[in-house]
Amino acid sequence: MEKLALFGGPKTKTSPFGEGKRFGDEEKREVLEALDNDILFYVFGTKVREMEARMSGMYGMKHCNGCSSGTAAVHIALGALQLPPGKEVITSAITDMGSLTGILYQCLIPRFADIDPQTYNMDPEEVEKLINAKTGAVLAVHHSGLPADIDELRRIADRNGLPLVEDCAQAWFTRFGGQLCGTFGDISAFSLNHFKLITSGSGGMVLTNRDDLEEQVKLFIDKCYFRDGRKRNPYFLAPNYQMTELQGAVAKAQLGRIEGIVRQRNALGMRLIQGLEAIPGVIPQKVPQGREHSFFLLVVRLDPGTLAATVAQFCEALQSEGIPCEPNKITGGMATYLYDIFQHRSAFPDSSFPFVSRDLGSDASYPRGLCPKAELAFEQTFNLQVSEFYTNEDIDDMIRATEKVAGYYSMKNV
Ligand SMILES: Cc1ncc(COP(=O)(O)O)c(C=O)c1O
Repeated sequence: MEKLALFGGPKTKTSPFGEGKRFGDEEKREVLEALDNDILFYVFGTKVREMEARMSGMYGMKHCNGCSSGTAAVHIALGALQLPPGKEVITSAITDMGSLTGILYQCLIPRFADIDPQTYNMDPEEVEKLINAKTGAVLAVHHSGLPADIDELRRIADRNGLPLVEDCAQAWFTRFGGQLCGTFGDISAFSLNHFKLITSGSGGMVLTNRDDLEEQVKLFIDKCYFRDGRKRNPYFLAPNYQMTELQGAVAKAQLGRIEGIVRQRNALGMRLIQGLEAIPGVIPQKVPQGREHSFFLLVVRLDPGTLAATVAQFCEALQSEGIPCEPNKITGGMATYLYDIFQHRSAFPDSSFPFVSRDLGSDASYPRGLCPKAELAFEQTFNLQVSEFYTNEDIDDMIRATEKVAGYYSMKNV
């Protein structure tokens, strides 16, 4: 057996990973045009509007609105639904806090559905179990760039007369059954933060086909100000989540890259999955038939019955072989309801509102063990990154290194 690099053996990855620049001439041209226009406010400028038109065209959706972040986009989507305070929103136990911030700001109560342990996406059966008279919406998260079972979630929402929101922050240009994620829900949210497949530094977008929601989205982005000549007279509470023309300019150019980025990541990521699947004890995220993975990240589980190493030990060895990986991370580092804000019910100072409220009729708590499959997933998995700039050789090195480390820790060899 080859000695691990961790213990002084030869390192598997000796060549640098493929790299590239995310921004080029197109982004520069758009930004310079925005500056030349001498207006950076979206209402008077052109770039945010052009970006929105490009996105609606690409997605075949009637309405797109740019905004300041993915967190803002989810908040706007929920705000547009005008759910009364105290209603419950069912979402995934594995997601980013950005999916949850808007729920709490709208004084809604998050309910967490456990995941499918093979895909790490919310399990529709678990969603259905949580539906009750107080349910206001289902917020589907397409985690890691792999579509959730969105067809089934749509059916469940329809059966129960509920709106469906899609959080596509991690799933740009990703298809379920040939249809783009973000086109199944009543309304959907996207993120353009630094870590996402395309970026404008920070930024977000909201898509909908519903004209009634579109009107609310526009108001919710902009302090409930009418921007169409009507007298200014806000009639509900709305933040300022405006996208600037600079963000719009970069995002517009980035949209031109997304199809190629996803194609490349998908090809490399599927090669990686295929290679990892052949390694005893290593279980890469499953990509069900008909779903495309855009590989925001790849989740890999280690079988504790086959490998005599903790995930942290395994990752230390893999990193020493030259392969970047993140132990016990998935998204967020823990099932989201284990965050202090839910454990201490501390959304607001000196108050357990909206979790506990006589006015809202709420008394929500989130004990450890609430979603056991999600909690176990954090213990047993690590993340690998797939970049559109990687080469097949990079992927093969990742596979060889994982094989080497798994071979070393195999129970058979201990
Ligand atoms: C699933 C999900 N939802 C929402 C967000 C929030 O996006 P942003 O960071 O742009 O506010 C993120 C970002 O990490 C995310 O991954």
